[in-house]
Amino acid sequence: MDVYKAINSRKTIRDFSHREIKPATLNKIILAGFKAPSNNHLREWHFILLQDRIQRKALLGRIIHPVDRQGAITIVNRWGLTDEKQCTTYIEAIPKQYNMLYTAGALIYPCYLQPTPLLKPRSLSEMNPLVSIWCCIENILVAAAAEGIFGVTRILFEDERRILKKILKIPTKYEVPCHLALGYPASDAKRLPQVEIDINERIHMNSW
Ligand SMILES: Cc1cc2nc3c(=O)[nH]c(=O)nc-3n(C[C@H](O)[C@H](O)[C@H](O)COP(=O)(O)O)c2cc1C
Repeated sequence: MDVYKAINSRKTIRDFSHREIKPATLNKIILAGFKAPSNNHLREWHFILLQDRIQRKALLGRIIHPVDRQGAITIVNRWGLTDEKQCTTYIEAIPKQYNMLYTAGALIYPCYLQPTPLLKPRSLSEMNPLVSIWCCIENILVAAAAEGIFGVTRILFEDERRILKKILKIPTKYEVPCHLALGYPASDAKRLPQVEIDINERIHMNSW
């Protein structure tokens, strides 16, 4: 598939069908992740695939506390959000957090080597490992889109990160940037509109 077509078709999906992702397809998509740029050239990335539903349920039950639609509206109001598309996205997304991770064809935990304290960076360079794994994740999302597979990333709250690292036996020096759920979309999967960008307003010639 043409790269622009894959990029333009990639959208966050939180409603998955039951269709399994073939292991060879998943390997191909993750290998595309390894083609992303890496700060120190070494691509110190590992991926935990949590495919066992019983294990998934046990993990998610400990870290995700389901919120219904009314709860989502309360959160959005508390945050004081005003952009209509943004509010719609959050109100749609918040109640789906548990289910999207539980039902996804693949629930992936990217892990990356973080040699310095993650939450106490002293320079932009100390954030390089985190930045690099996100380059990798974007490659994965675009490669997945080229295969008709879509998904969602969810950042880990601090307590989630701690519990998840322990349960999944992730080595101390490795960090997990997000949950990464991938799958074939359900027939009625919501694709929420992106904000519209006028590129001429975003590119500044020679100075801002
Ligand atoms: C760093 C990051 C964190 C995100 N966290 C969440 C999340 O916690 N839950 C969720 O449902 N979506 C999450 N998303 C997905 C965004 O909501 C989504 O990318 C955004 O609304 C734009 O929609 P699009 O991906 O369809 O273009 C996250 C995306 C990024 C890049």
